[in-house]
Amino acid sequence: MNIAACSKTYDGIKVLDFPGLTLHPGTVYSVIGANGSGKSTFAKILAGILPADKRGSLLEPSISVGYMPQKSYAFRMSTRTNILLGGNDEAKAKQLMDVLQIRHLERKRANHLSGGETARMALARLMMKNFDLVILDEPTAAMDMETTGMAETLISDYVKETKCILLLVTHSLQQARRVADEVLFLYKGQLLEAGRKEIVLYTPVHEQTRRFLEFYGV
Ligand SMILES: Nc1ncnc2c1ncn2[C@@H]1O[C@H](COP(=O)(O)OP(=O)(O)OP(=O)(O)O)[C@@H](O)[C@H]1O
Ligand SMILES: [Mg+2]
Repeated sequence: MNIAACSKTYDGIKVLDFPGLTLHPGTVYSVIGANGSGKSTFAKILAGILPADKRGSLLEPSISVGYMPQKSYAFRMSTRTNILLGGNDEAKAKQLMDVLQIRHLERKRANHLSGGETARMALARLMMKNFDLVILDEPTAAMDMETTGMAETLISDYVKETKCILLLVTHSLQQARRVADEVLFLYKGQLLEAGRKEIVLYTPVHEQTRRFLEFYGV
């Protein structure tokens, strides 16, 4: 799958200058980079909810895209109904609620859930459907460690089953190491490094990548 080049400029400052990239099915790409490096901007443009500088689709029109924003949204309905909005399959909804340990919250109003519970609900809602491209913007940032492990397993299994392309924006290099096949490193809106995780995380080409990784203790 090809992603076309795109850029985003705010108040005359280019916050994203993406060169375009070919992504491969059944692969998890971790998008890493410092605060403000353009990760969410890239995710939003790709998800089609933020226009790039030059209008026009970055993806083939036939590609289906699932997107979980950095701040998950809960509709004013039960957790269960929120999840069923993702796809009308009761059995699947129950299974996802069990895996993510939110079954006891199924009748609770979703807009009253805690941050981590909301993220679990939003991940379940997204995984009700099979997409060609899934974009998760820091899906586990609000989750505790146990739930994070479950979510990571769920993400890996989803990719294996659906053969989708999954972009996982994360601040956790441990998570990138555990879940990703490939790593994309954004630096000040530029895609500075992209490749196999073993290479980007351990023998990166650029000094800026080395400094970023050192800071995170890789
Ligand atoms: N609506 C906006 N108006 C002006 N500037 C914006 C807007 N949205 C984002 N920016 C700027 O664009 C840059 C990239 O932001 P973005 O949210 O993509 O970063 P990020 O890599 O996701 O950071 P974080 O790790 O904090 O989530 C930042 O400098 C941010 O201040
Ligand atoms: Mg962000």
